[in-house]
Amino acid sequence: MKILAIESSCDETAAAVVEDGRRVLSNVISSQVQEHKIYGGVVPEIASRRHAEAISGVVQKALADADTSLDELEAIAVTYAPGLIGALLVGVNYAKGLAYASGKPLVPVHHLRSHIAASYISHPDLKPPFFCLVVSGGNTMMVEVKTYTDFEVIGRTRDDAAGEALDKAARAMGLPYPGGLNLDKLCKDGDSTAYKFPTPKVEGSEFDFSFSGLKTSVINTIHNAKQKNGEINVPDLGASFMKAVSNCLCKSTEKAMLQKNYTTLVLAGGVSANSVLRKDMEELCKKHGFKLYLPELSLCGDNAVMVASQGYYEYLAGKRAGLELNAFAGLDIAEG
Ligand code: KG4
Repeated sequence: MKILAIESSCDETAAAVVEDGRRVLSNVISSQVQEHKIYGGVVPEIASRRHAEAISGVVQKALADADTSLDELEAIAVTYAPGLIGALLVGVNYAKGLAYASGKPLVPVHHLRSHIAASYISHPDLKPPFFCLVVSGGNTMMVEVKTYTDFEVIGRTRDDAAGEALDKAARAMGLPYPGGLNLDKLCKDGDSTAYKFPTPKVEGSEFDFSFSGLKTSVINTIHNAKQKNGEINVPDLGASFMKAVSNCLCKSTEKAMLQKNYTTLVLAGGVSANSVLRKDMEELCKKHGFKLYLPELSLCGDNAVMVASQGYYEYLAGKRAGLELNAFAGLDIAEG
């Protein structure tokens, strides 16, 4: 069963054809990173315009690379939430047009559900139930994945997402966009014990995260040094900050998995590409005998392969949308 998927939630225009949710027939991504780099972050209006320019070519190439015609598709899946609203609308409207013209069913896919599905591609043996830490640019949450389409969030960030905190800290350190990725490269030469950061505490919910205090702390460290004409060792500061973020993610994951009796952990989202986090999670899983599934690096960021994979399971569960389908900037993963 072949599914064509379209993804345009942020700054990548992507399309892919995947068979039976797991076998990749094509994977096309047109990235806007170089264009947003000069502004130090994604400019939503520019992102929407570039999606509108790229989408036809990207979809055509995905079909051609898969040697598949529209007729051979079982369904068309599209990311409809959450994300930049103007960017999402480009993909949603294109998918609606294609579904209408071809008479194929339209399947709406939640962006974070699809990030989780990236690991179905990398690991054919992976099946729910499992525990998942979703760490992306806009979201950080711990999710119980009960079935392919049943999700329960047990903790989430109260303020910044981990990726957002990494991007802002990287910018304060003078690193170019995309900050998280450049911080990862820089950390390799740094001493992670050189700078001390507070351990964030969230009142009220034992599994919620908070990263804004850590972010403010790293920015204050840089400002204080500047005011006193002091020196900052950027690789050491980056490595120490990354370690503080990773420690926070690992501690909560460990506590939640033990309490909820999970033995399988999946990482999902752009920050799951981070080398420090991957290593720390490997150690954590080794310590407790947990099984760890990491998405392959090429599927950690936004892509349409993961949308097609999740779209397949949503399709099997009977999810369909009509031409009234709208895009949503925010939508809970459990409702998606
Ligand atoms: O999941 P994603 O591609 O987009 C969203 O759906 O939000 O995540 C993007 C985030 C950005 O904050 C980016 O800086 C971060 O993932 N990121 C990384 C790395 N690669 C991407 N953060 C740390 N280390 C990396 N290697």
